[in-house]
Amino acid sequence: MSQKNTLTKKFIYDNLASLYAAQVQPLLPLQKSLLESIVITCETTLDVGCGTGIVSHAVPICGYLGIDESPFMIATAKEMNPYARFECKEWKSCSVKPFDLVIGQAYLHLFEPVEAATHLKKMLQVAQKRCFVTTTLHNTYWSGDLPKEGAEHISRFRVQHTQESWVSLMRSANPEKAFIVYVEKDTKDRKWLCTLFFNNDLPVELIRDIYQRNGYLQVYNFEKVANLLPTCNSILSCPHPKVLRYEVASGFDRAEGMVCFQAMQEVSNKMQQFLSALLKDYPIYFKDKLNVKQAGREPFPPHQDIAAGWLKYATEHYTVALALQSCNKESGALEVVSLPVAEQKVLDGPNPLQPNDYHKEWFANKTWTRLDMQPGDIVIFSSKLVHQSGKNNSNDSRMIWLVSFVTNVIDKEGLQNFLQEKLKRQPTMDCGVSKDAPRDAFGKIL
Ligand SMILES: [Fe+2]
Repeated sequence: MSQKNTLTKKFIYDNLASLYAAQVQPLLPLQKSLLESIVITCETTLDVGCGTGIVSHAVPICGYLGIDESPFMIATAKEMNPYARFECKEWKSCSVKPFDLVIGQAYLHLFEPVEAATHLKKMLQVAQKRCFVTTTLHNTYWSGDLPKEGAEHISRFRVQHTQESWVSLMRSANPEKAFIVYVEKDTKDRKWLCTLFFNNDLPVELIRDIYQRNGYLQVYNFEKVANLLPTCNSILSCPHPKVLRYEVASGFDRAEGMVCFQAMQEVSNKMQQFLSALLKDYPIYFKDKLNVKQAGREPFPPHQDIAAGWLKYATEHYTVALALQSCNKESGALEVVSLPVAEQKVLDGPNPLQPNDYHKEWFANKTWTRLDMQPGDIVIFSSKLVHQSGKNNSNDSRMIWLVSFVTNVIDKEGLQNFLQEKLKRQPTMDCGVSKDAPRDAFGKIL
């Protein structure tokens, strides 16, 4: 950003400080409860681009520092919050000590993506435990709140993010830390995008709420997959006594029982721990599937996993899908019908579901959400979530490892013998069954 632009932007924020203080939205409800629970483990908070200092209301004031490069914003913040600490500083050039929690409330969208990534990278370096950043999804935030001229000036300096561009910004600044992204509405029904980065301390208070509201949970950078890929690739070409390998006419299709490999077992354990915190329950490993969608493979139809006979073993089933290769629009990403957990139910009729036939009415007011994933990202969903995947139009395969867990077990013995029972129903390529043998959408021999 040029110096002229920076000065102009600073001038505008200086002049709008008092109006900003009067009109800016209070903390979002979920954000407020999130901050209140985060600070149980975070004693010190750095608020970057603090504006008038509203974040200081939700965190321990003795460990709080708000910084902003506008002296007028800082003066207003001090006036409004006389017991909190504020300093007039430019984030990019200032040096600060480490803080447990670093917050950037509606801050990063003041910069073009490349510069914003530099700001975020620094925030992540300073944050010892967690980092929380937000942006507005709406482009009319200021209309009606501020004089027209002020609204226009501010809008001009804001980068209007989509969820996709926001996630892309998060990734560009951060190749390692796990993070979640969620949408929350303010008191005027306008959407905000929120991101929480965390290390090993699971943000259970937040993930549970998001999972229950959306019916699924996506966690970016959950696991490094570089050491899993050699294992997965080796199974494509070489039989293993404990792995069921499947092939169809267009090539390798999937493998079940990958958890017998040490590296996969370790990741499965990590998934189990995460799921346990999410559900406040003790999920048991049920099955796992390495799903390989070769280039050119057709879409997978809409369905619910629970309809695949899983009720025989347990009443509740949860799957953690870990991307091993890029899953996007081109390669045929997972798509879900997002619905609160409390509203998910088993749909009657045939499985795969047929939205234009038996379930036409149910699908009528629903929309599909595509879940783009990079290697290492996960999505957690229950067996009642309706999902599908698109055609792989890319030149590469699209590999996902899906590990399913159960609670409320009905048939423990069946659970342990799942693969053996499955082998009888669904013979593998290592049993001498032709890859051209007709199978249904789930791989069963017809
Ligand atoms: Fe499925």
